[in-house]
Amino acid sequence: MKPKVFVTRAIFDAGLDLVRAACDANVWEEDRPIPRDILLERVRGVEGILSLLTERMDGEVMDAAGPQLKVISQFAVGYDNVDVPAARERGIKIGNTPGVLTDATADIAFALLLATGRRIVEGADYVRAGHWKTWGPALLLGQDVTGATLGIVGLGRIGQAMARRAAGFDMKLLAYGPRLTDEEAAEVGAKRVSLDELLRESDYVSLHCPLNADTRHLMNRETFAKMKPTSILINTTRGPVVDQAALIEAIENKVIGGAGLDVTDPEPLPADNPLLTFPNVVVVPHIGSASVRTRNKMAEMSALNLIAGVTGQPLPNEVK
Ligand code: DGY
Repeated sequence: MKPKVFVTRAIFDAGLDLVRAACDANVWEEDRPIPRDILLERVRGVEGILSLLTERMDGEVMDAAGPQLKVISQFAVGYDNVDVPAARERGIKIGNTPGVLTDATADIAFALLLATGRRIVEGADYVRAGHWKTWGPALLLGQDVTGATLGIVGLGRIGQAMARRAAGFDMKLLAYGPRLTDEEAAEVGAKRVSLDELLRESDYVSLHCPLNADTRHLMNRETFAKMKPTSILINTTRGPVVDQAALIEAIENKVIGGAGLDVTDPEPLPADNPLLTFPNVVVVPHIGSASVRTRNKMAEMSALNLIAGVTGQPLPNEVK
């Protein structure tokens, strides 16, 4: 008898084929998050769940599954939707997909930096709207990227990949992390500084820390006030790292110069959110890891974590 598992969305065949070969798999096939009540029903009796960041994996889900639940395998590197202590209490392992999405996410972060600094989206909208009548010396002036100072908050894998991209643009690099050492910062050509110094000195501030109790609303009214009025915030980690009401206020009152966001709070961002009315804010729909190769790799990794979990093997990538 194959172990029963539930997959909360149809991931790619690179992963699903592996899961189906090794497990008795039940898959939520619709292209939208599974409603909570259906999730609670569908997990009943499974030994493993392959989850997406759109599903809250808390004690209620774990108990609805039952005591035989061995593993929750997350199709993402971030796992703030999984109640880790609740899983630990129940002896449930958690898997995630680190590494494979580092470059794709850093690419999007750097794309947002370029797009906001050099007003790419505004420029494209301007042309589409038929406003382009002549070349003008002051038309859509942006901010320099080359030679500017980039502050990286969280110098983990993705923060380091961001630093490598920035080095190609001769940017000065500052980095902050609560446990970051001078040596680790120096390895990617960055100077380790306090968060205050980073906010004060940077032309661009890019967030790469995970969302947890310490980083929730790390960017708030007080921290925005420390940034330069021209400085641009880039967020590709999780929406709640930023107090979004404070961000709207900071943009409205020109406390900062703009923002490039791959993540928001909530997601999806309602179409009438004030952030979407500002020309100096670029929002994309959480597509940091959305490249064909990356998402296939994530599907494969999350499948292998799931299969290892239900067959009692060590997870290739376990959240410790
Ligand atoms: C992650 O992996 O945490 C991203 O946000 C989604 O790929």
